[in-house]
Amino acid sequence: MRVSLRTKQVLGVTALVGAVVVGLSVHDLAAQARVRLEESDARGQLLARAIYQRAFAVIPDALDPYAALRDDGGVRAILESSIYSKGVTYAAIVDATGSVIAQYPPEQISSPMREAVPLLGDFVKQGAIAQLREIFFGDGRTFEVREDLKIGGVNAVTRIGVSTLLVRSELQKSLYPVLVTAGYLLIGATLGALLLSQWLLRPIHVLRSGLRRLERGEPAAALDLPQDEFGEMGQEIRAVSEKLLAGREATGPEAGLDSIVEHLADAVGIFGPNGDVLFANPALRALLAACKHEGKKPFDALVDRTHDTRESAEPVTLSLPSGESEGGTRDWLVTAHPVEGPDERLLGVMIVARDVGALGAVESTIKYSRKLAALGRLTSGVAHEVKNPLNAMTIHLELLKGKLMARARPGEGGEPALDHVAIIGNEIKRLDQVVQGFLKFMRPEDLRLQPVAVDGLLQEIAKVVEPDAAGNGVRVQVECPASVPDVHGDPGSLRQALLNLSINACQAMTHGGTLRLAARAASRRRVEIVVEDTGPGIKPTEMPRIFDLYFTTKNGGSGIGLSMVYRTVQMHDGDIEVQSTVGTGTTFRILLPQT
Ligand SMILES: Nc1ncnc2c1ncn2[C@@H]1O[C@H](COP(=O)(O)OP(=O)(O)OP(=O)(O)O)[C@@H](O)[C@H]1O
Ligand SMILES: [Mg+2]
Repeated sequence: MRVSLRTKQVLGVTALVGAVVVGLSVHDLAAQARVRLEESDARGQLLARAIYQRAFAVIPDALDPYAALRDDGGVRAILESSIYSKGVTYAAIVDATGSVIAQYPPEQISSPMREAVPLLGDFVKQGAIAQLREIFFGDGRTFEVREDLKIGGVNAVTRIGVSTLLVRSELQKSLYPVLVTAGYLLIGATLGALLLSQWLLRPIHVLRSGLRRLERGEPAAALDLPQDEFGEMGQEIRAVSEKLLAGREATGPEAGLDSIVEHLADAVGIFGPNGDVLFANPALRALLAACKHEGKKPFDALVDRTHDTRESAEPVTLSLPSGESEGGTRDWLVTAHPVEGPDERLLGVMIVARDVGALGAVESTIKYSRKLAALGRLTSGVAHEVKNPLNAMTIHLELLKGKLMARARPGEGGEPALDHVAIIGNEIKRLDQVVQGFLKFMRPEDLRLQPVAVDGLLQEIAKVVEPDAAGNGVRVQVECPASVPDVHGDPGSLRQALLNLSINACQAMTHGGTLRLAARAASRRRVEIVVEDTGPGIKPTEMPRIFDLYFTTKNGGSGIGLSMVYRTVQMHDGDIEVQSTVGTGTTFRILLPQT
């Protein structure tokens, strides 16, 4: 999520003000709490002192000082008045054993009072946070103010109970105005931060609009900015914008044309009527420099002729120095055109020279391919001629075998020469296979291109391989959505190619698996056909060789299958790729053009 600069600024200021407000509020509350606690302590002490003075008047004359204290109306009146003191919950006089002599209110105190209640004086001395925590989050503890009452034979203590609950309720009353003030402060801070950001961020918006003008290529305008760092940035943007515009004017449309001619591979130039060079692009300059080096002026004759005839001359091929360190020449196709001014005066002759050396390279490749094709036809002719003698040799070998067997006498074992005949027979068979494969591969096939329905093709392949596949425990799966378009191909060769891939896949999955034949529409108006197996995969070392003619890893394999597939795909102007992971499977992908 992108947080804008303005949001960050407003949040920052508000958070800062909020933290200050909370700190001040807590400080204020703590001060108030301390005052309240000190007041309660003072009130307790006042009560205790009043009781002491009354007791001082009663005890000396009494026969039973304890009974006098209990029954004295003055003492009782002081105890009862405790209820009117804020924060005080009880007042009692307790003897040394904890027995209550007199108390108010009676229901608050049970005799004896042994419970050790903490002193209010100690609580008042504690830290502000501890006090606030106790008052607001504690569950109403009682503290005591205690004064010794030792007069004559009496040994007693005055105990005044003060509850934090009463302090809390008083503080809560003053909490409300604190919260309201804090709320107002926060709202005020947010509004203030908004105004501040408006004022602070305005130069950034002005700078941004200046950059947009620069982007659109509009002339630099003075930016309305304060005289600070932002003002300096504005001046820099203006300077850059002026420089850019000046550069753009210097490289106008004509400059573009110049640069095109400068970068042409063709040598282009204009020669004056007396043969001097008026303009030459770098290619022509290099060519002229190479010619000058050899003391040649190659274009003079052409320029003179065009000057006289005032007509474009026919292209001529000139052999000119190549200008390379090892010397030599290159062929250039040169044309000359007259250049006339508005008053039909001849201004000069334009020469355009094209290096045809590169074309020569293409030509030689074509010648080479033609030679290769002729060689192919020759070799397939030779192979065909080898086939006939091989057939004759097989027949005569059979005859020889028959004769040798007839000569062998019963009971003497086989004729030893028969073994040699068998070996020769096998070798001839192997030679025949090689020749057959070669002929199949070399014989030019005429493709009969037509729309081929991919689904039908895949279903047909599946039907052919299914019986063999089932024997090996291989499941055949066809996935071809109706939306897949027809391909432009020769049905017979495509069928053969896909069959070769499917048979390879089934042969690879000796322990069962899945053969998937799938198709889908691919980019650039093509159709992708996938033949995928879950076999053992192809070893990385074998991968570069699988499309080679005669490469096989199978006993009795001829190694022709994949090379035929490759050739068929190439003849269809398609592409083939293979992905294989040892132990996982192999995927062949064929891309063919749509109709
Ligand atoms: N799906 C596959 N899984 C594993 N290896 C494969 C697969 N397809 C081809 N190969 C490997 O590529 C080699 C060449 O395959 P290719 O089809 O050209 O010849 P081949 O199957 O051996 O003989 P054939 O001429 O009878 O097809 C195979 O011998 C095999 O090692
Ligand atoms: Mg094969």
